[in-house]
Amino acid sequence: MDSLTTAPVADVLTRLFNEAEAADRQLYESLSGESVTRLLEESKDYKKRYKTLAGNFLNISEEFGQFLYICARACQARRIVEFGTSFGISAIYLATALKDGGGGRLVGTELEPTKAQRARKNLAAAGLTEFVDIRVGDALETLRGGVGGAVDLVLLDGAIGLDLPVLELLEPHLRPGALVIAENAIGESTEYLNYVRDPGNGYRTVSLPFEKGHGNEMSVFAR
Ligand SMILES: C[S@@+](CC[C@H](N)C(=O)[O-])C[C@H]1O[C@@H](n2cnc3c(N)ncnc32)[C@H](O)[C@@H]1O
Repeated sequence: MDSLTTAPVADVLTRLFNEAEAADRQLYESLSGESVTRLLEESKDYKKRYKTLAGNFLNISEEFGQFLYICARACQARRIVEFGTSFGISAIYLATALKDGGGGRLVGTELEPTKAQRARKNLAAAGLTEFVDIRVGDALETLRGGVGGAVDLVLLDGAIGLDLPVLELLEPHLRPGALVIAENAIGESTEYLNYVRDPGNGYRTVSLPFEKGHGNEMSVFAR
């Protein structure tokens, strides 16, 4: 049995999905059918925008989490980078994959110090502290010096519009065959999508067939 389906990870995930539902309900209701992507796009000032959303999870779904776990296991990831950790839901799936796969390091990034603090607490409750290092601040700064070695998998789930600049920072560290998974690669992400979809840039890419409308895109660094 893998660690996703047993305590403590399974219990922490159940608690967090419940907390997320309660914390984000009002936000999603206020959108009256519009996707959260639209809301996040409204402001080019991502620091200000995410400050106002410091209490919101904005998390991936359980299905997407399972998908991340499977990807990380399948590529035998040892080093993973996450842009946008929030309260740690996606980080729990990724760190669990590292643990079950024999070890490794997830470098998370989070703009909001209070969110990073809660993510660390949640990861600790899931017994995953030793697999995760969360860098607090703007990922454009905190990832600048690299992540200590070759990267096997990247999850892009931070400010929409920064996917391409963050990928450009990480690209020199991607191992051949690395997976790059973008959540909400939509709208302001046109430049990102154009980049990964241009075979001249060395990626093979596909839009994921589930959670349609979220703009989830998976690419392999094929250089
Ligand atoms: C969509 S949420 C991430 C959800 C998370 N991946 C999960 O599934 O639980 C986006 C997060 O990215 C953070 N963020 C936005 N821009 C950032 C930046 N430039 N650097 C680091 N974090 C950023 C926000 O504060 C927010 O918590």
